[in-house]
Amino acid sequence: MKIKLETGKFYPCYPVYVFSYYAENGKELITTMSSSFTLGNLLVLGVGKSSKFATILQRNPDFCINFLSRTYLRQIELAGTILNRNYSDKTELVGFHFDKSKASNAPYIKEASLIWECRMKNCDQNGDVGFLTVTAEILGRLCDSNLFKNNEFQYNQLDIPLFEADSRQKVYRFMTDEARPAGLYYKDFIARKKSM
Ligand SMILES: Cc1cc2nc3c(=O)[nH]c(=O)nc-3n(C[C@H](O)[C@H](O)[C@H](O)COP(=O)(O)O)c2cc1C
Repeated sequence: MKIKLETGKFYPCYPVYVFSYYAENGKELITTMSSSFTLGNLLVLGVGKSSKFATILQRNPDFCINFLSRTYLRQIELAGTILNRNYSDKTELVGFHFDKSKASNAPYIKEASLIWECRMKNCDQNGDVGFLTVTAEILGRLCDSNLFKNNEFQYNQLDIPLFEADSRQKVYRFMTDEARPAGLYYKDFIARKKSM
């Protein structure tokens, strides 16, 4: 039996990231987000039209996506609840440190374990919906050196808070070590087919 799920939104665990970019005066600005997907080097984001980033995106298309571990949840949450328009010192209040990306004209957060250096390609206003759809290219990726060993990314060391929410509740859920190689079921299917 299925029942109707009444909710205005349903987010079944999206990785939480902090967006970083330069304001018109060159100052580092940040905002926390979770709506995104990637395919290869294509990145698509849902950005609230009232956010500071939405207002300057057309002038400076470069930004970085910063993934931080749960150690920084306080800063991550503050970056997503304190608004730039109410607190012009939001960046200082949150307290991250920055370096400049070489691939993109944007700052990245030094405390981040994984960084995507990006450039906007297209921005869709979506009519009167409150969110822009931003399509961007990932120009480069940076990661902490301890996340890359023996020429392999150490996925089991990666710790990115996940945002789970609906109209009733919001929680941060966390990644676990549990993993299963992809492709085994298909290989098994093919093997069974051949032996028939
Ligand atoms: C965990 C979390 C996830 C969020 N995800 C998004 C998102 O995907 N898109 C968005 O527009 N705002 C999202 N927000 C809200 C924005 O961070 C918030 O509106 C933002 O700080 C306002 O932008 P500004 O201060 O840069 O103007 C999220 C906030 C939190 C705490």
